[in-house]
Amino acid sequence: MAAAREDVVDALRKIVHPDEDKDIIRLDMVKDLSVDTDRVSFTIVVKNPDSAFSNQVEEACRRVLHEEVDRDLEVDVELDSEMIPLGDDVMVGDQSGEKQQTSGEDGVKNTIAVASGKGGVGKSTVAVNLAMALSEQGYSVALVDTDIYGPSVPKMMGMEGEKPRVNDDRKIEPLKKHGIKLLSMGFMVDPDKAVVWRGPMVTKAVRQFLGDVDWGDIEYMILDLPPGTGDVQLTVVQTIPLTGAVIVSTPQDMALADARKGKAMFDNVNVPVVGMVENMAYFTPPDLPERKYYLFGREGAKELAKELDVPFLGQVPIEQKVRESGDEGTPIVRSAPDSLSAEAFDAIADELVEQVAIRNAEDDPTQKVEILYE
Ligand SMILES: Nc1ncnc2c1ncn2[C@@H]1O[C@H](COP(=O)(O)OP(=O)(O)OP(=O)(O)O)[C@@H](O)[C@H]1O
Ligand SMILES: [Mg+2]
Repeated sequence: MAAAREDVVDALRKIVHPDEDKDIIRLDMVKDLSVDTDRVSFTIVVKNPDSAFSNQVEEACRRVLHEEVDRDLEVDVELDSEMIPLGDDVMVGDQSGEKQQTSGEDGVKNTIAVASGKGGVGKSTVAVNLAMALSEQGYSVALVDTDIYGPSVPKMMGMEGEKPRVNDDRKIEPLKKHGIKLLSMGFMVDPDKAVVWRGPMVTKAVRQFLGDVDWGDIEYMILDLPPGTGDVQLTVVQTIPLTGAVIVSTPQDMALADARKGKAMFDNVNVPVVGMVENMAYFTPPDLPERKYYLFGREGAKELAKELDVPFLGQVPIEQKVRESGDEGTPIVRSAPDSLSAEAFDAIADELVEQVAIRNAEDDPTQKVEILYE
């Protein structure tokens, strides 16, 4: 039987670190994961590879993989001492000389950009609800609105008009709502003035904005991007070290063409696309719960994900409550947890966690991408 990456990650997730009360995948202890037909190899990163504890973890990995995945699986585990990956290149640069970690045990662990080529397909809605779903699953979450031209996260989170404070260390304190730490570029800049900004000004603003913030420990930072794949979006994704990107599309041809451009943009800057979300996938009338009407076409984004070889995270139906919840400032995941869309967002968040875990187990920690051109 061929072992699937997902099954391997799921099995390893059963091993919980006794002191931290978190599993070894969530603690980023699994690195260099490689899954072949009948062989799995990976490195476990521990404080002291020679300790009895390390041997126990190694033994537990073998056992759980044999029990959960395949009895005959060849399991090749290496133990390595904790790396010190925090060089300059994995931090968000900052004007004041302070650094903000983006990997390792403290600071911001995973940064996920939510993007689309086309405007109005539901990026902000997806960003806000993914943040909410992850927070409700117990992760520490930050939500950042980088859309300087049309910030909508503050409204969707019911924080319009609120301003963050600066603390005694002259760091910006993120706002907090529904358990999520929240910042919007809209707090800092006047959207009317930002319209004329070009790349370098955006870079400066984004750097300053993210570098001067006292985030504390964050497991998932979700960044809502402005629509499009132009200069400004490129600047944002080049300025922030990204773990991965989520592309949102409707099943419509026009949106799909732009989603392709989004994928190409992330390919250009070496940011992995960890998933595609199909928003407004279908409509189910509340009085006809078994019906699905595919108003914008059927499963277009799902098929595009297959074609581009990116994980498909799931479909969100069109629901009046999604818009109403956004307008009222409470994400649907919280305001109507039993709705079709809330359930869809929960499932999408689960899938995202899975894909990020796979990405982190296979690749190096989040790196700051190179600026390819000015
Ligand atoms: N699944 C859905 N069902 C119903 N309404 C939705 C759904 N997803 C998004 N909307 C609504 O569509 C509108 C656009 O959504 P949103 O602002 O999230 O898109 P966006 O891609 O962030 O837009 P922009 O490109 O302007 O940033 C909003 O009014 C939102 O409430
Ligand atoms: Mg938006």
